[in-house]
Amino acid sequence: MGSAHASGAAGTKIKPRILAGFSVGVQAFACAGAGLRGVGHARAGHNAENCGVTMSENIPVLTIDGPSGAGKGTVSRIVASRLGWHYLDSGALYRAVGVAASWANLDISDPAALVRCTFDTEVAFRENDLGDLRVWVNGSYATDELRLETTGAVASAIAAFPEVRSALKERQRAFRQAPGLVADGRDMGTVIFPEASFKVFLTASAEERAERRYNQLKDKGVSVTIGGLLREILARDARDAQRTVAPLRPAEDAVLLDSTGLNIDQVVECVLALVNP
Ligand code: C5P
Repeated sequence: MGSAHASGAAGTKIKPRILAGFSVGVQAFACAGAGLRGVGHARAGHNAENCGVTMSENIPVLTIDGPSGAGKGTVSRIVASRLGWHYLDSGALYRAVGVAASWANLDISDPAALVRCTFDTEVAFRENDLGDLRVWVNGSYATDELRLETTGAVASAIAAFPEVRSALKERQRAFRQAPGLVADGRDMGTVIFPEASFKVFLTASAEERAERRYNQLKDKGVSVTIGGLLREILARDARDAQRTVAPLRPAEDAVLLDSTGLNIDQVVECVLALVNP
């Protein structure tokens, strides 16, 4: 993990800037180049760094929120690796609690049981040589189970309980470690890291998200239909956006980035241009 970017922005909010509707490559390059010019940022506190201590508030955070299938995970991992920063996949934490709850046959409509499960569940993340995130839940390898659509649905259901969300809050904030953090989820910029210096809200049309998911699953040999995936995506979007606690919505100071029609590299360049204009 490099430290070249350890002195990135901290403490200062970027100006609101809307990139929504950028749906073709030419505009994407405009966004990677000129579109983000002039976005303000501050440097990390050098006093703390000179003392060999990096105060948490001096550690830059880039939040990438958005609906399921918008490409947040892939983009966040690549951006974190390019910056040499840590990566938090907050959805994986909700999924891990869902998996642990179902292994323990818990009633997933009982918030008290879920909170106990949240505190008791150990989650370990490790990247393989290809940069893929692998996850262990309570010591058992759970990466494949975590990625199932059914697990996503359970995660979404338990994520609607405010008690579960607050039980996971400090755990998520603990990922903020030097030289920086890229955090992906639904409420990273609004609730978990409202003070983050860089905030992106990444979307894509529901149809394109369903198609991307279909191709991913097809490559893994999983048999699904685009229509079925589209229905699941729309249902999950609605549940995530309509819940009363930490609903899915862009932070007021987030950059909106619509990735419909863009490839991963183009989205990555847009996001990197925000951090290093
Ligand atoms: O991002 P991912 O699809 O893995 O997240 C699974 C579910 O966990 C989401 O549908 C959402 O309901 C919930 N979640 C959340 N807040 C987050 C991350 C995920 O509510 N920060």
